[in-house]
Parts: sequence; structure tokens; C-alpha cells
Amino acid sequence: MTDVLVLGSGIAGCSAALAAADDGANVLLATKAERPEESTTHWAQGGVAVARDDPEAFAADIADAGDGRCDPHAVDVLVEEADDAVEEVLVETLDVPFADDYGREAAHSEARIRHVGAETGKHLLAPFLAHLDDHPNVTILEDTAALELLTDEGRVRGALLDRSDGTQDAAVADTTVLATGGVGACFPRSTNPDTATGDGLAMAARAGADVADLAYVQFHPTVTVGENPLLVSEAVRGAGAVLRNADGERFMLDVHDDAELAPRDVVARAVADERERTGEVYLDTTPLDFRAEFPTLHERVVEAGFDPDSIPVAPAEHFLCGGVDVDDRGRTSLDRLYAVGEVARTGVHGANRLASTSLLEGLVWGRRAGRDAASRSSVAGEPEVPSRPERDPALPDGFVDGKLERLHRVMAAHVGLRRDRESLQRACAALRRLKGETDAYARTRPAREVAELRNAATVGLLLARAAREAEPAGCHALEGVPCR
Ligand code: SIN
Repeated sequence: MTDVLVLGSGIAGCSAALAAADDGANVLLATKAERPEESTTHWAQGGVAVARDDPEAFAADIADAGDGRCDPHAVDVLVEEADDAVEEVLVETLDVPFADDYGREAAHSEARIRHVGAETGKHLLAPFLAHLDDHPNVTILEDTAALELLTDEGRVRGALLDRSDGTQDAAVADTTVLATGGVGACFPRSTNPDTATGDGLAMAARAGADVADLAYVQFHPTVTVGENPLLVSEAVRGAGAVLRNADGERFMLDVHDDAELAPRDVVARAVADERERTGEVYLDTTPLDFRAEFPTLHERVVEAGFDPDSIPVAPAEHFLCGGVDVDDRGRTSLDRLYAVGEVARTGVHGANRLASTSLLEGLVWGRRAGRDAASRSSVAGEPEVPSRPERDPALPDGFVDGKLERLHRVMAAHVGLRRDRESLQRACAALRRLKGETDAYARTRPAREVAELRNAATVGLLLARAAREAEPAGCHALEGVPCR
């Protein structure tokens, strides 16, 4: 029996695990990842925004980016705790080698981003995992997926785990923290690793937890075109790069006063429009010394076969602003269940997240949730463990890939950057059928890939339904309705 079970090993899960363990709880951290690269945190380029000496300005930027839909209390919590959390955990405990300067990204009124070049995530996640590995109160299980939450009389009591050796067993815990990340695998083009199948969101929704703001899926405007999307950080625009259409025009000057540094949803829509109108959009990096300022990113762009001076870009799914609804300690509507990081909806991001606030939110809410979880009393009684089929009846050839492709087609056609209510209605119908089919398969087969597919299909339907109902704001723009 564990005090605190953490599901997921990005910055939010690590932060929750560390806070709980430092407060004396014994912590089991289970993660699907076999290597840090399988977490979105590792891929994070930009950095971690901090308040510096102007928390009001930081809060105002978050609220403006969020298009009036942020929860002011959540924003205050984030802003007030940002600098201390970064200093205490990332600098003093983990010794993350932040650059001396502060970076600038879109919709920030000043340079306030702590970064390690344009590969911040990688430089903080590896030391975080190493630190937890050495912590006497923490056990890490890699290559271990959570299949279902365990409940007992309405209270969450851990999760059914699928281990690396293919066995499945119950991890019973006094408190459970979801830190399973985003939903990028539901979309054909995403900046997330393909492990981002929305597992925590789907499991929580099945268990009856409240979810919110699922209409607000953020698309990043500058991701290389084609099948293997590579994020080109906003920091590059922050350093001076500009966007040009196929005719060489710098179109953002006509779209927004802040041009390339307008809020992300505005830039993403403009990039999509210009691609449609003129055929292509390029990130022109010649106003800066791209190679010198962003050497690793420059190398990756070249390796991917693109001209680093003029990189063809298109929007790709990047971040879900909503998620499992939580309070300022990460508590969900289900007793003893917490959610932190991208799987959670804290209210900080409103309808569009400000750049470089996701690692920060994971860090701050992870700490809060971990401390709170560690303070809870132990629970008596045994949860019900769902019975699982023992064998996998053979799946039809290409079953999982085929269904995933169908999910991608529906999400790209109807639940992407451009939406309209009729088309969302069609998406709901198609996704209901897909979910029904994947539910049926998951009932008779214990394979992890089937569980992940089922989660992705569940999440696709949740996103489409939320978008069908939501009023347009931020990154949820409806065709024919004026956006900001
Ligand atoms: C980026 O580097 O452009 C992404 C940063 C973020 O998503 O906050």
C-alpha cells in the first residue's frame, strides 16, 4: 500500500512526487515512459516564465492571452509562487543550468523566461528524474501504464497498472495524482510525443470526475510542415524572426499590433489563413543569428531537411488548456484524486495559454498537490479491482493503427484550428461510433495499446462535444464568428 501514487513523469508528476516525498510520504511514481524523451516536458523548448519584480504585469499577460477566460485566483497563485518554486526546486535542488538572460516570447510584455537555450525541458527533466531516483521515499516504475482508476465508495484508491513485463496489478494508494500529460496523439500533427493519448483525462472522466474547458485546444503556429512536425520555438520569434507568406509579405503586421508576438491563437489562425491564401508560410530567421542563438534547434531544422533561414511552417496541436477540473491544491471533484500539469484544468490558461507557463504550472501545482496529498490520513478498506481478461484474442491486422488513423481524420477535419457547429456535430457522431468500437475491443483485450487507443477515442469525443457546446473564445474559434 502506497501513500501517494503519481501517474506520469513530466515536470508536474516529478514535482508532486518530490513534494510528497519530502513531506515524508512514500511515493510510487508510475510512468509509461521508458526514457525521459517520451514525456512532453523533455520536448519543451521555450522555458519557464517567472514574475521577476512585476507580478501584476505577468498576471495581466496571462489574462490577456487567455482571452478573458482565466480564473483570477489561479493566476494569482501561479504568479505569486513562480519565482520561489523555480528557485527552490529547479535552481537550488536540481541545479538546472539556466542562461543568465531572460527570454522573450509571444504575448509577454517583457523578457521573463528562464531558459536553457531552446531545450529547457531536457535540461530540467533528466536531473529531476535522477534526483527522485535517489530519494529514499520514492519508487519509480518505468514502462508502466495506468489502465483504470480504482475506486471504493466513491473515493479513488489507486490504479490498475500494466507493467513492463505485461503483467497487470493493482497499486492501492491513499491518494492518487494524475500527471499524465496531454492529448496530442488524438491529432495527426502534434508537438507532443505519441504517448500523449490522454490517459488521465479519459480515466478520470470514466470514473466521473468533472472536466472543464476542453474546447480550448491550443495549436502552435510555427511547426515544420510535413509528417514529422518539429516545433520551432516562439523564442525564435521573440529574438526577431518574422513570418512571411509565399509572396514574401510579412502578413502579421496587418493582423495584430504585436505582429509575430501576438497571442498564440491569433498567430496560428493567421498562419493557417495565409497558407490557404498563398500556399505556404515561412519563418524568416534572417533578422537574427539563428545558428548562434539557437544552435541545437538550428541543427535539428537542418537535419530535418529545411532551409534554416526560411523554414516552412504550419500550425500543429500543442496543448490542451482545459482538463480535469481542479482547485488550487490540485484536488479534483473525486475524493483523493488529484490532477496536475496538462491533464488538469486549473483555470490559469483560460481559453489560450501564454507561452512558457505550462512547465511553471506543472511545477507549482505539482508542489501544492504533492504537499496536500502527503497530508491526508490513511484510508482503510480495499478498493474494487476491475477484472481483466487474461489473454489477448488476436486483433484484426492493423486494428489499432487503422482506428487511430480514423480518429486523426475526424479530428483534423472537424476539431482542428477552424471549427463550425455543424461540422462538430458530425465529428461527435463519428467519434461516438469510434469510441463504441474501441470500448468493445478494450473489454475483451488487456493489451496496453488497445487501452491507449480507447483513451484517445474517449478524449476525442470529449473534446468534440465540449467544442460543440462552447462559446467561441481564444483558441476555440468558430467559422463566421469574429475572433479577437
Ligand atoms: C515554444 O517554445 O514555443 C513553446 C513554449 C510553450 O508552449 O509554452
